[in-house]
Amino acid sequence: MKIAVVGTGYVGLVSGVCLASKGHNVICVDKKQEIVEKIKNSIPPIYEKGLEELLKNVVKNNKLIATTDIKLALKDAEVVLIAVGTPYQGDAIDLSYIKMTAEEIGKILKESDRYMVITIKSTVIPTTTDTFVKEILEKSSGKKAGIDFGLAMNPEFLREGNAIEDFMVPDRVVIGAIDDKSFMTVKKVYETFEVPIIQTNLRTAEMIKYTSNSLLATMISFSNEIGNTCAQIGGIDVREVMNGVHLDKRLSPVINKKRITPGLLSYIEAGCGFGGSCFPKDVKAIIAFAKKQGADVSMLSEVININETQPTKVLDLLKKSYPNLKNLNIGILGLAFKPDTDDTRESPAIKVANSLIKEGANVTGYDPIVKEEFNEVIDGKISYANDIKTLINDKDAIIILTRWDDFKIINQEMIDKLMKKPIIIDGRRMLNKKDFKIGSYFGIGYSPR
Ligand code: UDX
Repeated sequence: MKIAVVGTGYVGLVSGVCLASKGHNVICVDKKQEIVEKIKNSIPPIYEKGLEELLKNVVKNNKLIATTDIKLALKDAEVVLIAVGTPYQGDAIDLSYIKMTAEEIGKILKESDRYMVITIKSTVIPTTTDTFVKEILEKSSGKKAGIDFGLAMNPEFLREGNAIEDFMVPDRVVIGAIDDKSFMTVKKVYETFEVPIIQTNLRTAEMIKYTSNSLLATMISFSNEIGNTCAQIGGIDVREVMNGVHLDKRLSPVINKKRITPGLLSYIEAGCGFGGSCFPKDVKAIIAFAKKQGADVSMLSEVININETQPTKVLDLLKKSYPNLKNLNIGILGLAFKPDTDDTRESPAIKVANSLIKEGANVTGYDPIVKEEFNEVIDGKISYANDIKTLINDKDAIIILTRWDDFKIINQEMIDKLMKKPIIIDGRRMLNKKDFKIGSYFGIGYSPR
């Protein structure tokens, strides 16, 4: 099929590259010339595991081309995927990029007599496609959605760091459509995927995306609240509690006498909070919208409240050893919001670094991918170490904030040898407390009696 992808940010580029590698002819459009140049030269403008190789292939085989000219991109397109940004601004999502794109597409539709399905892939609040987008498209084209052109909403469920696999081997494809013709056309995009395809109306598709992210965020905040409660009671380790909970067969079923550990279980673990470009923004956006509709979203509001304070729990643990942080040398391990990505958006490390700096500590950071550019997203400045041992060296305490596998090499011997005082705060509960001496290891969701 001929597919145009408008917006080559994270979602647009991954979708475009994956669809091209499935054999479709994809044209990616972006307003930014430098991004288009990079794509043309097979250089991914963002870091994502496996993307570079796939991009090289599809560009070489002429299955994917990039342009700044939206008119050219839509010339033969059967499906147009809109994947422009929908940032959260103030108290609602900012739809200005969607508006701009819909207006441009509307003008192209006006001059074209071909049928194409305009499909929203960006995350948008329920009702956006069947009111806002539809109205703009109809007004600027003078045509009618569902008659002259198709309209669909096809949310993405891509995890950063796993986006290629999530796209190529999806759990489900949700297609919200204004009519059957729009649905059938978008369905063809996924013809070669072995996956359940769900047909819904436009606003249900939008709601599925928000509900999925809200559920995962809720599980994390729930686990963090339980963890904080365990720590407050004392003598209960949330890891042991969650292990016991996970063994419920409804959470980890036994199939052919083998225990299955679903990926979902990692969200039912305590830590220093969620971040990234999706959970915080999406949950806040659905809360704001639901409130405007008069719905009670007190539980989701609490999910955000818990998450706002969760990163500070590592500081509470640190203060058990050092009530005053002034002039202490503290190392933070992990700056990205999660492993396998260079993304620092809403990373708990930002809050922790800012608080440590504010309290007068000298902070050094290390992350396998994020480097000195981290200083651009915090209020003050931290120093940067090139490897784990340099980070640990001569510190009064170290704090793990991202669950990078690389950090698993840290052990008692290493911290005894290198640190001023061997104190480790595990904000991800990724190390085994039994491998450390009492008084050296502190973790979220645990305090000894
Ligand atoms: C998420 C959804 O998983 C994806 O389906 C959706 O399309 C976009 O949002 P992403 O933000 O990339 O994807 O990351 P995810 O791996 O889900 O993690 C989100 C946040 O939760 C991160 O801050 C991560 O550290 C945190 N998290 C994740 C936990 O605290 N515990 C976990 O077990 C998993």
